[in-house]
Amino acid sequence: MTLRTTLRAATRQDHDRVDQLGGAFDFTNPSDYEAFLRAHAAVLPGVEAALDSAPPEDLPPAWAQRRRTAALTADLAALGLAPPPQAAIPLALPDRATRLGALYVLEGSRLGGAVLRRRLAASQPQAPDAYLAHGAGQPFWRSFLDWLDGQVMSEAQTDAAVEGARQVFRAFEMAFKIETSPAR
Ligand code: HEM
Repeated sequence: MTLRTTLRAATRQDHDRVDQLGGAFDFTNPSDYEAFLRAHAAVLPGVEAALDSAPPEDLPPAWAQRRRTAALTADLAALGLAPPPQAAIPLALPDRATRLGALYVLEGSRLGGAVLRRRLAASQPQAPDAYLAHGAGQPFWRSFLDWLDGQVMSEAQTDAAVEGARQVFRAFEMAFKIETSPAR
């Protein structure tokens, strides 16, 4: 098993849950797209900020180009929505291993984003899509996997990486539930 296949297998159910919850956002409805962006704004900038404070050698190549907080903030602003909250959902990413897991989830989320971008384009072609379009046509996932392949981790570190990945999946899950709850 490579680190990637371990992470994928260990988080399959977490992914299925966010995928399913994400499906509750109906992109034919502008307010659902806004809720989708708000949910991501509750998670992504906090994770990226936590990763920013990591030693550069713990981060994949072109980390600065991989960051999507600015794109997300631009979409929110274009829709007249508030900027991302400061660290809305707390995370603990204290070491290289947990951060690697978090990075895996962030980079992987772009793959689902490409599917969602096509859905958005089909129903709301005018909607600002800097966040979902980020990295389109660029080999971020491929180069991330190459970087991941070169990372050496002990069994304990691999467990910690899975925990880091789970934390980020859980944060998205929580944010999606808040934004899709009927109470809103
Ligand atoms: C915040 C929400 C999401 C997160 C954090 C997330 C995370 C991930 C991760 C980490 C992977 C990589 C799995 C691997 O190692 O191969 C992945 C792959 C994938 N995700 Fe998601 N995902 C999210 C939402 C979605 C949604 C809503 C969809 C569907 C519309 C989706 C569709 C996919 C697809 C199709 C792949 C595989 C792409 C490929 O192998 O080329 N994801 N996602």
